[in-house]
Amino acid sequence: MTDKYAVIGNPIAHSKSPLIHKMFAEQTGQDISYEAVLAPPDGFIATVKRLRKEGYKGCNVTVPFKQEATDLASYLTPEVLEANSANTLTFKDGAIVANNTDGAGLVRDIECNFGIPLQGKRVLLMGAGGAARGVLIPLVFAKVQRMAIANRTLERAQEMLVHGQRFYEDRPGMEIAAKVYSELGDERFDVIINATSTGLTDEMLPLPDTIFAPGALAYDMMYGRETPFMKFAREQGVAKVSDGLGMLVEQAAEAFYIWRGVRPDTAPVIAALRKQ
Ligand code: ATR
Repeated sequence: MTDKYAVIGNPIAHSKSPLIHKMFAEQTGQDISYEAVLAPPDGFIATVKRLRKEGYKGCNVTVPFKQEATDLASYLTPEVLEANSANTLTFKDGAIVANNTDGAGLVRDIECNFGIPLQGKRVLLMGAGGAARGVLIPLVFAKVQRMAIANRTLERAQEMLVHGQRFYEDRPGMEIAAKVYSELGDERFDVIINATSTGLTDEMLPLPDTIFAPGALAYDMMYGRETPFMKFAREQGVAKVSDGLGMLVEQAAEAFYIWRGVRPDTAPVIAALRKQ
């Protein structure tokens, strides 16, 4: 029997998840269906209840319901706790398990697709909103050596640091700091990740031009176009510049793995989406 899955959001028509999961299913021979479900702004919980009643096995959750998804869960992972947001729900034995696969997706894109092991690296994470919170703990778990969180509003970066403390306080040798951009000075980083929403508004972050270490990766979690941050990185001579399309596919692959126990090959899916 076909196992049913869905992605719930509002809006949802633009979502690439149905196409990605269709490609994963074809590739791995898994008998699943996956559809986009529009929930009214106040109708997320009712929608999840309906899907469970109709025998769905799980769902992905996107804007604006990622936070609400955590309230429904019987089991939360550290990533969900830190981010207070979940993008993957699994309906199992009468319970709801919540995962946030964004961070794992980012780490896999950097480590597997770009071939850059994060262990021992100096990482700059820019932003302290939902997107940044979703990836902080997986980056820490990847054993980075230095983690700087930079944000326009210092208090939000500091809050994020304090909130995640239980996950990194026992990691000797790892440094972690919260800063505003002007405090970055001439410090250099190996991996610089833009998790702010500035790509959407075409704004540039006030970054010193010294932040890129030789061979650095400049990564924007937005996808679909060259953001001002990506353009800035190229102008500074950075050769490895990426948008977040790989992360999008990898976070979907993590969800697919959680649900099906099978890891799809992401490379052909990323390539197919790039052509679109
Ligand atoms: P998301 O869920 O996409 O992360 P969010 O929670 O609204 O959205 O967070 C947006 C992030 O982009 C924040 O880190 C925000 O900085 P502040 O916390 O100071 O608001 C950052 N951001 C948005 N516009 C910015 C700009 N023009 N310059 C610098 N940072 C900006």
